[in-house]
Amino acid sequence: MASAAGSTAPPIARGAMHGVAPLRAGQGVSFVLRRLHSLTGIIPVGAFLFEHILISNATAISGPAAYAKQVAFLGGLPLVFFLELFGIWLPIAFHALYGFYIWYRGEGNVISYPWTGNWMYTAQRWTGGIAFIYIFWHTYTMRFTGIDLHANPYASFGKVQNEVFQTPLFLFYVVGLIAASWHFAYGIWLFCAKWGIVSGEVARKRFLIVCICFFFLLSGVGLASLATFRSEPLQVVEPGTAAMVHHAAPHRKPVE
Ligand code: HEM
Repeated sequence: MASAAGSTAPPIARGAMHGVAPLRAGQGVSFVLRRLHSLTGIIPVGAFLFEHILISNATAISGPAAYAKQVAFLGGLPLVFFLELFGIWLPIAFHALYGFYIWYRGEGNVISYPWTGNWMYTAQRWTGGIAFIYIFWHTYTMRFTGIDLHANPYASFGKVQNEVFQTPLFLFYVVGLIAASWHFAYGIWLFCAKWGIVSGEVARKRFLIVCICFFFLLSGVGLASLATFRSEPLQVVEPGTAAMVHHAAPHRKPVE
């Protein structure tokens, strides 16, 4: 195996505050794959995560009807299957699999280099790994098993509730959400450092604070949505109509 930063060059292991190596030139295919890995973390995977947590799932805070409306909107997008396939699943699969390869090629070395940058380096790998297990499970249960939410958007709130009401899975959701939020937020910082978008030690330190604030925003909104799923009355999960949702939550405004 290569050294701590065998895949990205030693400065990463020597501390985030001491500089991040620009993306190593590499050669041929590995150069392109490395750049593609970095880019897919932001677009489309990061952009999707942003939308998923801060826009779509945040509507759950306004209640089941608002959430159903958002799910209906997403499910009604033209060519939705191809949008999901090329805009979400394949890019995530590529970023994750190549991410595991990068991880395998390097070592965290938190013992030998016990300062911030190397902890961040290790955390980036572990949060990616946790996010992978979580995303796999979440997609399998929400998209590919049980009631089809594209065909029955009004069952969406209840379907999530059924999952997060079970305590061990609720904790799994909390851990997965926090891991994905950290990975993306710190990933933005890494990306900007590597591509030379933010350069200079002072600017990078300041930008790190911005990214940490973004982490709190992402995970905070995500946790608030999860809390709403648990605090609302349990919704009916059956192929059916909006009436069921209103029935279960009469204090909410109906959606046209
Ligand atoms: C929630 C989905 C994910 C998002 C939004 C995401 C986003 C990002 C971003 C923005 C970066 C910084 C890009 C760069 O280093 O230039 C990154 C880096 C990384 N990601 Fe992900 N990622 C996700 C899932 C994963 C998964 C499942 C893995 C699998 C282990 C993974 C592994 C990595 C690794 C190893 C790096 C660091 C690469 C390096 O240090 O050069 N990511 N990710």
